[in-house]
Amino acid sequence: MNNDLYAVVGHPISHSKSPRIHSLFASQTGEALEYTAIQAPLDDFAGTVHGFFARGGKGLNITVPFKEQAWDLADRRTDRAAKAGASNTLYRDADGTLIADNTDGHGLVQDLDNHGVTLANARILVLGAGGAVRGVIAPLLARHPASLTIANRTLAKAEALVQLFTPDAQGTELNACGFEQPDRPFDLIINGTSASLQGDLPPVSANVIGADTVVYDMMYSLQTTTFNQWALDRGARHVFDGLGMLVEQAAESFRIWRGVRPETAPVIEELRND
Ligand code: ATR
Repeated sequence: MNNDLYAVVGHPISHSKSPRIHSLFASQTGEALEYTAIQAPLDDFAGTVHGFFARGGKGLNITVPFKEQAWDLADRRTDRAAKAGASNTLYRDADGTLIADNTDGHGLVQDLDNHGVTLANARILVLGAGGAVRGVIAPLLARHPASLTIANRTLAKAEALVQLFTPDAQGTELNACGFEQPDRPFDLIINGTSASLQGDLPPVSANVIGADTVVYDMMYSLQTTTFNQWALDRGARHVFDGLGMLVEQAAESFRIWRGVRPETAPVIEELRND
């Protein structure tokens, strides 16, 4: 019998770590599956997805720039995907319904747990208000921080997220601002902007970094990320990049598809040493 088939779809896709992560999960758990990378044409994401499932494929991860299209294409969305407005995980149920989930926010919160970061009652600053940030707000709010401030270059986008997530805020003080406004140390700062792709830094005050501030860059790279280096240079002592989040979101997809939760620590370690 052939192994069950999974893939990640994006454009470009050649640098994706997902095939390596999922093959490490498969050998660790003894699950018989193959996981490949598929570059969909920019103008035919839907055709790529339908073709994959028509060939008997079991599940897909979706990455840039197709997460919103994956959300649109699905017949049904999980609650967390509905709120995220984007999907990184697709699968079909027994009657062929195409379901969209989003495991990115779960991956972030799980990785913060791995690092021993306390979210309950924390004062959190999130930088950015794009698709990546939208996917993580509800899971952060579910941990009941004291406050969650969304700062963005385009203020209107941060304000729109505050409006969208106010029903999820419960006791958390949720607010929006520009980058220059925050001026006191936060317990946790999460960089969810793509500024570093252009070699930029969000222009936040150094005053947001205190001795105990935890800094988390959702980006990752072999060297310290640009944002984390900025924070270190301003006295931060606890900085983490998004490699753990990447592995944790993959583990949650794997659990959805296979019903087995892989151990993530050895996989994070192995990727870090690649
Ligand atoms: P993603 O899917 O990575 O979230 P996105 O939806 O395009 O991509 O969002 C990118 C985020 O990074 C946005 O918050 C964007 O700010 P704007 O909303 O003002 O566009 C932010 N961003 C991108 N380049 C930036 C830069 N050079 N400086 C500061 N913020 C930047």
